Amino acid sequence: MFKLDRTSATPLYRQLYAQAKERILSGALPPGTRLPPERTLARRLGVNRTTVVNAYRELAAEGLVEGRVGHGTVVLGPPEPRGADAVRPMPWAGPTEAEEPLVADINAIIRRPGAISFAHGEMSPELYPAEAVAHLMQQVLQDPAALGYGPIAGLMPLRQAIADAMGVTADQVLILAGSQIALYLISRVLLQPGDTVLVEMPSYINTLGIFDSAGVRVVPVPVDQHGLVVDGLDELMLRYQPKLLFTLPTFHNPLGVTLTPERRRRLIQLAARHQVGIVEDDPYGPLHFTGQPVPTLKSLDPGGYVIYISSASKAVSPALRLAWIVAAPPVVERIARARGSLDFRAALLNQRVMEAFLREGLLAEHLGRLRPALKERRDLMLEALQRYMPDGVSWYVPEGGYHIWCRLPRPLTARRLLTEAGREGVAFVPGDFYGAGQMARRGLRLNFSYPRPEEIGPGIARLARAVERLLREEAVDGGEEASISGPVV
Ligand SMILES: Cc1ncc(COP(=O)(O)O)c(C=O)c1O
Repeated sequence: MFKLDRTSATPLYRQLYAQAKERILSGALPPGTRLPPERTLARRLGVNRTTVVNAYRELAAEGLVEGRVGHGTVVLGPPEPRGADAVRPMPWAGPTEAEEPLVADINAIIRRPGAISFAHGEMSPELYPAEAVAHLMQQVLQDPAALGYGPIAGLMPLRQAIADAMGVTADQVLILAGSQIALYLISRVLLQPGDTVLVEMPSYINTLGIFDSAGVRVVPVPVDQHGLVVDGLDELMLRYQPKLLFTLPTFHNPLGVTLTPERRRRLIQLAARHQVGIVEDDPYGPLHFTGQPVPTLKSLDPGGYVIYISSASKAVSPALRLAWIVAAPPVVERIARARGSLDFRAALLNQRVMEAFLREGLLAEHLGRLRPALKERRDLMLEALQRYMPDGVSWYVPEGGYHIWCRLPRPLTARRLLTEAGREGVAFVPGDFYGAGQMARRGLRLNFSYPRPEEIGPGIARLARAVERLLREEAVDGGEEASISGPVV
């Protein structure tokens, strides 16, 4: 975001002030933007907190920002033009967050020519079934009704096809425009502000945002190489009386791990004993590399405790914006009613395409190509990690999905590594993006579905060089924060 030049004669606080002012005047930081808290920015820039305090004070003196209780430092915008004819723009802006600094840092790396990204959450474009989708779009559009609204709970033949695949009835299936909306609606329909949910940690980051905005209390549950840690859950459920538990049991994002059959059984038993609903988020399930699908929690749940969500986003294409909830009919009905005032319908055209994709056996054909292609990329990444990473770095081996979780030796942190990796032109997502704690701080999510196969080895070699450099620095200076020379911009 900001870049300070320590060799310049201009004091650091003046540099920071000047850069922030320029962004405010250019509109890059619009009115209402919250500037990063002083302590956070100071840490990121590797400067003293007073440097940031002084810069913010100068901005405030010019009326460009204002300190607000409970909101930190907020941009007020450029001073208003004077004169009778001056156009005063409508003050739409409310308090928006500046771009999450970590995302800005990652994007800055990815944008550089020659950069290799292990930070994406999607596949490389050549893995999408573009030809089949183009053909089906044409076919489906032979019927102009495909451009209409369609039913509120989704296209019945698509609901039926999903129900058949899951061994349930169609009234248990609801089609939505992506898992993100599914999670949002579940939180609005089944939770009240002040309720407690158990969420495995680390977890898919956007879930945390949804629970946050629903005003519910999140109690973290640890995850290890065998998935959600079920020991201790009995006590957590007794103590917190949660309404729901959110889990990603198969090819977890970000950890890549899969819940064992034994833990699955115990989890269902505990849900039944404590009357806790389980939200099973399963977008990666079809992407297994072993030839055997992992049985879903839903398939082990005779009592209707599990609300299952899956999506076309990871196995087919996120552009279709299609996901489905499989749950007890009363849950489906309530969520269908609530979606009427949110997004109204999922795109009928895309539902028709998806339905034809399933009916004509094209999904099976596509997955038959996709699984080996993803497995090849995973294997290339595992080989490269083995070959290039120094001692002390370890990783989980995922049996499907998109991600490998890699752990750094103490006292390195993934945030520190990102700065070094940026210099090498390689990006990843630091683990603390997905939750707090030691495990997250030392973890890296490495995505293997986006980079081209020939980029994976060189990308991991670059990353390993960055790790080695940090380890050497560590040996010299004991790992003081001072060794961070600035943000990756
Ligand atoms: C675990 C998990 N759930 C949900 C989603 C969002 O999927 P959708 O595109 O269906 O909203 C993602 C996307 O990264 C994900 O990783």
